[in-house]
Amino acid sequence: MNIAVVGTGYVGLVSGTCFAESGNEVVCVDIDRRRIEQLNAGEIPIYEPGLAELVRRNVEEGRLSFTTDLARAVGQSMVSFIAVGTPMSAGGAADLGGVFAAAESVVKATVGYHVVAIKSTVPVGTNDRVRQLVESNGNHRIDVCSVPEFLKEGSAIEDFMRPDRVVIGATSEQAVAILREIHAPFVRTDNPIIVMGPRSAELTKYASNAMLALRISFINQMANLCEAVGAEINDVRRGMGSDKRIGSQFLFPGVGYGGSCFPKDVQALIHSASQHQLDFTLLRATEAVNQLQKRIVADRVKQHFGADLSGRRFAIWGLAFKPRTDDMREAPSLVVIEELLAAGARVQAHDPEALDNARRIFGERVSYHRANYEALSGADALIILTEWNQFRHPNFQRIKHELRQPVIFDGRNLYDPALMKALEFRYYSIGRPPV
Ligand SMILES: NC(=O)c1ccc[n+]([C@@H]2O[C@H](COP(=O)([O-])OP(=O)(O)OC[C@H]3O[C@@H](n4cnc5c(N)ncnc54)[C@H](O)[C@@H]3O)[C@@H](O)[C@H]2O)c1
Repeated sequence: MNIAVVGTGYVGLVSGTCFAESGNEVVCVDIDRRRIEQLNAGEIPIYEPGLAELVRRNVEEGRLSFTTDLARAVGQSMVSFIAVGTPMSAGGAADLGGVFAAAESVVKATVGYHVVAIKSTVPVGTNDRVRQLVESNGNHRIDVCSVPEFLKEGSAIEDFMRPDRVVIGATSEQAVAILREIHAPFVRTDNPIIVMGPRSAELTKYASNAMLALRISFINQMANLCEAVGAEINDVRRGMGSDKRIGSQFLFPGVGYGGSCFPKDVQALIHSASQHQLDFTLLRATEAVNQLQKRIVADRVKQHFGADLSGRRFAIWGLAFKPRTDDMREAPSLVVIEELLAAGARVQAHDPEALDNARRIFGERVSYHRANYEALSGADALIILTEWNQFRHPNFQRIKHELRQPVIFDGRNLYDPALMKALEFRYYSIGRPPV
């Protein structure tokens, strides 16, 4: 099958590459000329484990290419996946400018029958609006469908290659048959392809992300209650998560959810509900809890050192919103670092992959360290914000030696409080008594 993928970000590049890996001929399109130049020069503009190798192989074998020429890419394809960004706009709604711009260009470039599959996360009704756009262009041989994407950054290739389910929102049998065929290689283990109406498919994506965000806010608020009453969140989490009805995933307390999806998707769903006179109180609370949780580490730092942090230095391990990505969109680290800087502190930051993105955001206001121990030098405390694997078993003696004081604020509960006590660290974590 010849496929065009519009947008070469975390979703588009992974999708296009995985479609090529299963034998299709894929052209990935972007309006960002520099990005396409990078890709054509063999550079991968984002960090996603395993992606570079997969891109290289499929380019070498002639199944994957990159261009800014949308018309040519679409003209030679039967299906176009739209995977452009849908960022949050000022009022909380999803900004659909990119989706409509891409859809219009695709519609104008089609030759003969074509499937436009919207992979971007879009509010209910977007497919209908794109269909109207098709009709106003007088082209009736285009089917518009919703194929929301559920991959997670950090394990995007595995998620794409073995999705728990594929959701297809379509009204045309021909389009469903084509999309089934494209996705068949990824559901060989009989995970379902669920076909439904486009509106339900659009909403399924938001419902999934909203539920996951809700679980995170729930466990974070439960962690705060644990601290107040002298309970241990890890015990509570394991105790409740082993109930099959509840399950253990997305029940880890931390410094709040971030990333390019949960915050904007929760807001967009609240906004969609409000347009139908529905106050989605549960999600407003989810978001409010999250905002507070993002501040919890900085608040604790100030409780320990005082509100005025001038003259203090803090080492931060972990800037990305989660491990195995370089993505810092809406990352808790942004809130923590701004709070520390505003209180007069200096910040020495380390992240295995996100330093370049951090530099674009903070410029010279923060110092950046490729090696984690280097970031500790002369700092008053270590603050951990992302649970990268390499932070799980550090050399504690070295940490103690490099820090001015043996204080750790662990926003991800990486260490055993008993061990920290034995090593004579002052150790703050989430939902567990400080030691
Ligand atoms: N990142 C994730 O983990 C994830 C997971 C599931 C779904 N999604 C959804 O997928 C969509 C894409 O997310 P992302 O993280 O890949 O975004 P991204 O910001 O990483 O990439 C979007 C790309 O689209 C390009 N683009 C924008 N307008 C364009 C146009 N008119 N024509 C061609 N290219 C255009 C941009 O230049 C950019 O390279 C969003 O709706 C997001 O909510 C994201």
